[in-house]
Amino acid sequence: MEGNSPPLLKVEHLSKKYLIKKKLFYKEFFTAVDDVSFEVDRSEILGLVGESGSGKSTIGKLILKLIEKDSGNVIFKGRSIFELSKREEKKFRKETGVIFQDPRTSLNPRLTVYKIIEEPLVVHNIEREKRKEKIIKAIYDAGLDESFLDRYPSELSGGQRQRVAIARAIVLDPDLILADEPTSALDVSVQLQIISLLEKLKKEKKISIIFISHDLNVVGSISDSLIVLYRGKIMEKGRTKDIIKNPFHPYTKILFDSLPPDHPSHRKKINEIPEIEREDIPGGCLFYHRCPIAEEKCKKEPVIKKIHGREVYCHFA
Ligand SMILES: Nc1ncnc2c1ncn2[C@@H]1O[C@H](COP(=O)(O)OP(=O)(O)OP(=O)(O)O)[C@@H](O)[C@H]1O
Ligand SMILES: [Mg+2]
Repeated sequence: MEGNSPPLLKVEHLSKKYLIKKKLFYKEFFTAVDDVSFEVDRSEILGLVGESGSGKSTIGKLILKLIEKDSGNVIFKGRSIFELSKREEKKFRKETGVIFQDPRTSLNPRLTVYKIIEEPLVVHNIEREKRKEKIIKAIYDAGLDESFLDRYPSELSGGQRQRVAIARAIVLDPDLILADEPTSALDVSVQLQIISLLEKLKKEKKISIIFISHDLNVVGSISDSLIVLYRGKIMEKGRTKDIIKNPFHPYTKILFDSLPPDHPSHRKKINEIPEIEREDIPGGCLFYHRCPIAEEKCKKEPVIKKIHGREVYCHFA
């Protein structure tokens, strides 16, 4: 997140509410993303971790302009993505790629692997003669070979399908890839292969990756920097190795403590963390209702504290 050159991506105070109920004189909204700011450098992997419903995918969709924001800004290569002309928008699409959780549903079952990888090249008007060369390069870069190009998704294993999704995401040489739970549907051994493939792409192609996962184990092993999200808000942010060495926020500690006992980053035994359920305090700390160390002062919302390049949403940090 720190560096001399300007970041590839800068997210500023991004917020999003979903309309969940609408009656004649009444609307009810749900805050999915609340004042989220962060940066992603070139060739950096940013991990976005949090439990189900914490707003991870919503952040991903906002950054790729797949849904409307309520407020805030996303600056990609120095330009706000909300102020792009049609031509610039197309360039933005070319420079960003996406990989989803389940390659079973994200790949069109009626198309061959060749056609699947070719699709973005067609959309971006790449000449037919150049396409084949790029497709072959992408399939090898994704760790498969030409023999896969005539197959259909149903003729591939889960790991191979995810490699095809990665080949499609990199075929236009993007600068940024959003990987939303890319390994969650895979067996552990295959997960590790996909993680090392993404690390290789980062190093060799200087691609930046936003890696979304509910699993701190997975995110901790791949990311350079880390954001811990809870109810749409950043609880803790910093270099991954610093957070693993010394997590500040009680929620980060709880996430670590739910890792298997033999995990190197395991700190305390699971039963040392009390299960708390309190009433929410409107206007108080968002984590108050589950926090094992909450006190009177936590009935007020904490301001983000900046400590040695880390940011923490907690009165005790
Ligand atoms: N289109 C929508 N309309 C209303 N609420 C939505 C919509 N999309 C998401 N939400 C809600 O916003 C919250 C955040 O959703 P989001 O999909 O971003 O979470 P997530 O962290 O990606 O969860 P998961 O780990 O389950 O994928 C959830 O409570 C979800 O129910
Ligand atoms: Mg999600």
